[in-house]
Amino acid sequence: MTDVTMDKIVSLCRRRGFVFPSSEIYGGLGSTFDYGHYGVLMKNNIRSLWFRSMVQERDDMVALDSAVILNPSVWEASGHVAGFTDPLVDCRTCKLRFRADKLEDSQCGRRPSNRPGEFRECDLTEARQFNLMFETQVGALEDASSTAYLRPETAQGIFINFKNVAQLARRKPPFGIAQTGKSFRNEITPGNFLFRVREFEQMEMEYFVPPADAQRWYEYWIEQRLNWYLDLGVRRSMLRVREHSAEERSHYSSGTSDIEYDFPIGWQELEGVANRGDFDLTQHSQHSGTKLEWVEQDGTRYTPHVIEPAVSIERIFVAMLCDAYHEEVVAERDRTVLRLHPAVAPVKAAILPLIPRNDEMVARSRKLLDELRERWLVEYDDGGQIGRRYRRQDEIGTPWAFTIDEQTLEDETVTVRDRDSLAQERLPLSGVAAWLADALRRPWQSPAA
Ligand code: GAP
Repeated sequence: MTDVTMDKIVSLCRRRGFVFPSSEIYGGLGSTFDYGHYGVLMKNNIRSLWFRSMVQERDDMVALDSAVILNPSVWEASGHVAGFTDPLVDCRTCKLRFRADKLEDSQCGRRPSNRPGEFRECDLTEARQFNLMFETQVGALEDASSTAYLRPETAQGIFINFKNVAQLARRKPPFGIAQTGKSFRNEITPGNFLFRVREFEQMEMEYFVPPADAQRWYEYWIEQRLNWYLDLGVRRSMLRVREHSAEERSHYSSGTSDIEYDFPIGWQELEGVANRGDFDLTQHSQHSGTKLEWVEQDGTRYTPHVIEPAVSIERIFVAMLCDAYHEEVVAERDRTVLRLHPAVAPVKAAILPLIPRNDEMVARSRKLLDELRERWLVEYDDGGQIGRRYRRQDEIGTPWAFTIDEQTLEDETVTVRDRDSLAQERLPLSGVAAWLADALRRPWQSPAA
């Protein structure tokens, strides 16, 4: 068993260009990151797999892309202006800030402050509430009337569009509205790489149901979302569902369950599934004066209840990397491999001319590359020894490598190497695209499962 630490994941992400610390040449900006090539590809895959299962494969779902900056009244109505806060304490000794409810996870409060040469007890201020929304100004005038917020969740953009979708697009509950997009939170203690950041991409879906059916749909969506991770090869032993106690639930929730992953930092929320009742539609109806309700053909009306699965690409990204990361020794050499589900892997296949100076091998390799890249993200790699190229592809999780060698020039066959089993077989060059299409359709399970 590989000992997977966050440091190893961060180091691989940096080494192989998945993720870089942002603004690095200016000394960085705490807990902000930029995605490099493979990170972008993997993020795109996660987003489109989510969209596929939430929207493309269903009859009861529509997509939305709402604005980041909304009328500030939205956040009054939603309760975020008054209540989207964390308790904050300052330490007079080490001059750092902490969440009062997470002190046991921090360096402060429990042990001497560890500034170089200083070993004084931490001295904490009284807790005060700190609003996590980023404020901004809209327009040229800077006064109270121009204050607006960067959205801290994408959900409210969905609620305020309920009427557009339900009435204009003639959707009848149960139906859902799904959207992905950036959210922003001025977290007091961001950290653990991408796990808690101030800018992240949420994927949220609000499912509107008749009130009497809410509990049934809540249970349905917990199961659906758990199965999504399992279908993408995340190990069952690393996932669990944890129901929130009444004290833990958010102000809008009448039931919340977290799908948790056993991260290197312990069991933590990966995704939340909440039964938001009629809280949001009722609040927006009252504050806006626009009735957000469903009217049956016989004239009976009701405010639908809402079930919400909500997650960020960042959390899935980290969980999937942790689940996939594996170190082993093969033929007396170290190998680090990302055993990602092929659908999640940034690159689906590598095309490797065995001898890059051989013009015929290069010509055949490039022809295969042109054929495969019409359908998939594939990579041509001619840098260095073949063993080194395999290792490089292993580290970015490429499931298959096709090698064009001397035998290809004789009999038009290629070698395909499997990332997980390391097995190699020969295939006709003309059959590679069909072979890859078939391989990508096959169910995949982590070899560690
Ligand atoms: N609309 C409900 C909502 O936003 P939440 O539990 O605050 O609920 C939902 O957030 C999901 O968004 C979390 O389960 C997590 O996946 C992700 N998330 C929240 N804050 C995050 C942060 N600071 N960094 C990365 N992901 C975050």
